[in-house]
Amino acid sequence: QEPNSLFLIRAGSPAVIGVDDTNSYYISSDLTALPENTRFFREVSEHTLYCLDAGYDHVLAELYDWTYFKPITEAYDLGNFPDYMTKEIFHQVASLPQLLKQPSEDYSVAKDLLLSADQIILVGCGSAFYAAMVGASVLEEAYKKPVRVMSAGELQYQQIHCTKETVLLAVSQSGETADTLRCVQRYKHLKSIAICNTANSTLSKICTTEVAIHAGKEISVASTKAVTHQALTLMNLGNPISRGAVLKNIDTLVNFKKFETLCGMLVSQYSLIALSRGHLLPSILETALKIKELAYIHTEGLSASEFKHGPLALISSSSTCLAFIDETIEDKIVSNIKEV
Ligand code: F6R
Repeated sequence: QEPNSLFLIRAGSPAVIGVDDTNSYYISSDLTALPENTRFFREVSEHTLYCLDAGYDHVLAELYDWTYFKPITEAYDLGNFPDYMTKEIFHQVASLPQLLKQPSEDYSVAKDLLLSADQIILVGCGSAFYAAMVGASVLEEAYKKPVRVMSAGELQYQQIHCTKETVLLAVSQSGETADTLRCVQRYKHLKSIAICNTANSTLSKICTTEVAIHAGKEISVASTKAVTHQALTLMNLGNPISRGAVLKNIDTLVNFKKFETLCGMLVSQYSLIALSRGHLLPSILETALKIKELAYIHTEGLSASEFKHGPLALISSSSTCLAFIDETIEDKIVSNIKEV
């Protein structure tokens, strides 16, 4: 009945509408996906019906609360990098020192919430969950109160014990991951802190407060710089980290040459066992996730101490084991690895 109209309603996921000079409309989940010739855009409100009419005069746009659109080109310029993931890994050389310079006031609202909490619950999915694991032990040590970390996909279906003093920390690069959002919504009676990379994301809007991780736009599907920024931001919420210690190690992150021999050895494997324990457990789990996701090699990421309780059965003479050694418990890990 309305052949010249397009109707749009938003439920949960974000949406924006763009319009260009020829009155063509674009609907997208993200501003960055709008074409360069977009003139104006507006965010779509939740549960509101929009009617996009072909006869609409874009000149009126400014009168009706549309915003002038500036294409985001810098993040999309690959420069000399072969892909966005490599570019984003290298970006850490600039972005991490920048993060460490953030004024302490940026953390003060979140810190006050954590100080008044009776327990702290961290949630996230995938790599964000592993960053949350790194944060959990630092926060427990700093605030001396119970801290637990859960996969957002699991917490949303569980009824865990919490009081109105419990604080939920939701970790997400995009701020749009459905499981993480549902989790915050399910526990909306709690105070919550978004640890997020995307300003104006749904997560930053639904949480009580937000701490930005300042990683810059992450285009690559596999999260890289956002993970280090999430972990360091969480650490900063606990005991501020030594700038020197981080800066000293940044070059290793981008020293691809150093890893060439190791990668050459791993790439021909059918499957890998990835072990660690203690502070490096989240890192080995994240490493296993990345090897699966990017090298398509089945990798079993495990605590080295759990390994002997069953998974050891997987070992054959052709098995390859990758291990991260936490120097503070080196002898324990080495003895676990010797069993392999
Ligand atoms: C893995 C990866 C994913 C994300 C996860 C959460 O490389 O990128 O595991 O970490 O989907 O996404 P965000 O952080 O946007 O909530």
